[in-house]
Amino acid sequence: MVQFIDLGAQYKKLKEDIDENIHKVLNHGRYIMGPEVAELESRLIEYVGVKHCITCSSGTDALLMPLMAWEIGEGDAVFTTPFTFIATTEVISLLGATPVFADIDPSTYNIDSVKLEESIERVICEGKLKPKVIVPVDLFGLPAEYVRIEAIAEKYGLKMLEDTAQGFGGVYNGRKAGSFGNAAGTSFFPAKPLGCYGDGGAIFTNDDELAAILKSIRVHGKGSEKYDNIRVGLNARIDTLQAAILLPKLKAFVEYEVDARNRFAEMYTKGLKDVVKTPVIPEGFVSSWAQYSVLANSIEERTTLQEKLKSKGIPTMIYYKKPLHLQTAYNKLGYKSGDFIVSEDVSSRIFSLPMHPYLGQDTVSTIIDVICN
Ligand SMILES: Cc1ncc(COP(=O)(O)O)c(C=O)c1O
Repeated sequence: MVQFIDLGAQYKKLKEDIDENIHKVLNHGRYIMGPEVAELESRLIEYVGVKHCITCSSGTDALLMPLMAWEIGEGDAVFTTPFTFIATTEVISLLGATPVFADIDPSTYNIDSVKLEESIERVICEGKLKPKVIVPVDLFGLPAEYVRIEAIAEKYGLKMLEDTAQGFGGVYNGRKAGSFGNAAGTSFFPAKPLGCYGDGGAIFTNDDELAAILKSIRVHGKGSEKYDNIRVGLNARIDTLQAAILLPKLKAFVEYEVDARNRFAEMYTKGLKDVVKTPVIPEGFVSSWAQYSVLANSIEERTTLQEKLKSKGIPTMIYYKKPLHLQTAYNKLGYKSGDFIVSEDVSSRIFSLPMHPYLGQDTVSTIIDVICN
């Protein structure tokens, strides 16, 4: 039986360091904001190449907190893709603002910058909502088209929040995912390219003032100390134990895991490109391969391929079966089928294959053979 994501294989390799770090925390007992949290933040700053890293309790909170800091709320429009996990838009809705969708590029599945600009123009024209923020998503590990999106953000005076929950480890034009926009949020959910053993996340920014507000929001809106509350905040800290677990995992991630993912992705693409639509990684981009997703030629072919793979002990997943504009939770936004045809078409044919750094060439070859046959 092949594992879709093999956390066990990773633990086996890193066991000594992970166990040692866990015991270190058990011995010093500083479970909340212990020294491992600061150490992790400084390592992440170095890796991503930004001024500040504010670790937090999840990828969802990593997106919520910058929007809170910018006081996004009722009457505000936040532009994003409908082809993502609901956490991207949930945080917008929780603050009373309105997610406004723009369809995806059919080759990268990331937000289409031309459609994004059309969507901003439409909102301005209608005059009901105030355009405030763009939230591009680095889907499946591939950074969004930031040169174009940054220009759009500047043209319309909008903030940009990079949702790099899936993109950590990706690169665009020599810059790491997490370094784009006014702020970026990532997730350390166990199945993510860099994951802990529970929930966790981090925010990256070069903005000193924003970083200070985020640190306050993270601990109940604290001022000079926890019981001096200068704003309404959250309990959004990462656990010291999770930070301690992430330290050796980050080392492995930087040293060889991203490369291993890329090697297996290359093998998949070489073996599958004539049979299904394989992922497109444009010039200047590196993916961290949160998922290796292919497009079948039809919804029926997807079902057949998934069943065939399952019968051989090879698991697959569908990210995402239903785009957000068609989710029940968003009925009230008034979208309908046909509004974002690229997202809808991709949702009906996409599926993801096993992908992790410990997959092995033999397993990749077997999966390729099953699909090709
Ligand atoms: C695109 C995207 N954004 C945000 C999140 C939220 O991350 P978390 O699960 O850590 O809250 C996820 C996680 O699945 C995600 O895939």
